[in-house]
Amino acid sequence: MNINWYPGHMKKTMDNIRASLKLVDIVGEIIDARIPISSKNPVIDDVLKDKPRIMILNKSDMANENETRKWLNYYRSKGYGAVVIDALHSKGLDKIYPLAKEMLADKFKKLEEKNLSSKTIRMMIVGIPNVGKSTFINTVSKRKSAKIGDRPGVTKQVQWIKTKNDLELLDTPGVLWPKFEDEQTGLHLAFTGAIKDEIMDIENLAFRFIDELNKRDINILKNRYNLSEDFYEDTLFLMDEIGRNRGAILKKNEIDYFKVANLVFDDFRKVKLGRITLETVEDLEKVEEENGN
Ligand code: G4P
Repeated sequence: MNINWYPGHMKKTMDNIRASLKLVDIVGEIIDARIPISSKNPVIDDVLKDKPRIMILNKSDMANENETRKWLNYYRSKGYGAVVIDALHSKGLDKIYPLAKEMLADKFKKLEEKNLSSKTIRMMIVGIPNVGKSTFINTVSKRKSAKIGDRPGVTKQVQWIKTKNDLELLDTPGVLWPKFEDEQTGLHLAFTGAIKDEIMDIENLAFRFIDELNKRDINILKNRYNLSEDFYEDTLFLMDEIGRNRGAILKKNEIDYFKVANLVFDDFRKVKLGRITLETVEDLEKVEEENGN
């Protein structure tokens, strides 16, 4: 699998994040609710350390509601703030400021005691590409987006984005590439469109996707493509059936795998297969157990 990930770039971004941390009260880490494991850069935890952090589970409109609720509870149990949002349709965004305020209550109380009371909360938004950072920032800032100017501590100008309440946002300073520790991370990022389809040819990618759904929950495919079986020993046979049922046929009755791949991904990404979460809390706990954490 060929992935454009350069350790040098990652280091630069991490250095920038580290430098900008002093400028903010709190961090909002956006992840894709469909793939909370793969859309989270693990290296960032070392950099953010104990900085108050809100895990922002975005794209909730595309993820399974039950699983999202479990992720929310999981992050809360680990001491993070956590919210579920759908940045595209402006859902859940209003919960962020009050939560941040609650999490920073001690800090604000201290400021008040020194007569330095301020309602403004500065939040750095971090996340790998495609989790919805721009959508989120554009939606919460509406037209109030404004450059506030330089802040002490960084040499280059930092762009602060104002929102409708007293929240000021700072976008990720650099590109936070995902980290590919295993093949599944790369596959899940590709399935969701976070990395473009060229990392693997789309027919192979679709095969892997269909294979995963066959094992995870065949009903997702069964309902959409009128499938006959409850489980397919041979994933290619399953792919063929989708092709036949959808008229993805070439001359001489051969299956048009390219067409099958495109229609399946199109359905997935337009939520026509339903709301699917590909990575659950149980999956993470299994991995942690295997790693002895
Ligand atoms: P980024 O800045 O983190 O890179 O992400 P960006 O906001 O550009 O969002 C990436 C894609 O995800 C966009 O789709 C955007 O509309 C979509 N998106 C963001 N938030 C949500 C959400 O809550 N729900 C849904 N359903 N979609 C969301 P796009 O413009 O079609 O881009 P692409 O898919 O072609 O990359």
